[in-house]
Amino acid sequence: MNPPLVELQQVDKHFGRQTEVLRCIDLDVHPRDTVAVLGPSGSGKSTLLNILGGLLPPSSGNVRFDGQDLHGRDQKELAALRNREIGFIFQAHHLLPQCSALENVLVPTLVHPKGELRNSAPERARQLLTEVGLGERLQHRPSELSGGEQQRVAVVRALINQPRLLLADEPTGSLDEQATDHLGDLLCQLNERHHVALVTVTHSRRLAARMSRVLTLRDGSLTEAPAPQ
Ligand SMILES: Nc1ncnc2c1ncn2[C@@H]1O[C@H](COP(=O)(O)OP(=O)(O)O)[C@@H](O)[C@H]1O
Ligand SMILES: [Mg+2]
Repeated sequence: MNPPLVELQQVDKHFGRQTEVLRCIDLDVHPRDTVAVLGPSGSGKSTLLNILGGLLPPSSGNVRFDGQDLHGRDQKELAALRNREIGFIFQAHHLLPQCSALENVLVPTLVHPKGELRNSAPERARQLLTEVGLGERLQHRPSELSGGEQQRVAVVRALINQPRLLLADEPTGSLDEQATDHLGDLLCQLNERHHVALVTVTHSRRLAARMSRVLTLRDGSLTEAPAPQ
């Protein structure tokens, strides 16, 4: 088996003295994994995702990305690594309203681009948008797209820098069942085609059922259940 892409080792996280959110979490995410994280509201799912993505430091314990300590780097180095290697998708898509689908997708290429991607980004953006079924919508603004289409633009934006890890926080939270299924199909296809590991927080059993691993966060601990059939 390949070494893990991301490793959490004995990670604790508390906010202030009172709120202990994560307790001694160990988690390995491998390059081909698709992982769902379930759990009650307030159980620390977003906190866990933010620690995995280097947006939040743990209170104690280690986070390794590609074998190297993630939070031991200086902020600039960490920001550059996040931009290159980690794509984020949120429940609200956070697209820029005045920009077209194509322009929105190109935003992450404006800072810290991987050298070889600098010139090829517009063509790659067109290809990816076409791959997710938006080839005819390149110049549309977010307000001219459906909720599912907006979320697909956000997925492409998260992939534009060819990250190795895609982190999604309730990406189908504002979508209906059909759009949820469509996004689930898409995330699985992208995982296979683009070799990007996926960790998604979700309340949707339908989305979780498509992932190869299902984890549940409760009372600060993670348990792994066999993938649902
Ligand atoms: N920046 C923060 N400061 C203080 N408390 C926080 C902060 N972020 C999250 N929390 C608390 O940590 C707990 C877990 O939050 P969160 O990770 O957002 O849960 P979930 O995503 O599972 O709903 C909650 O009790 C929340 O209020
Ligand atoms: Mg959350």
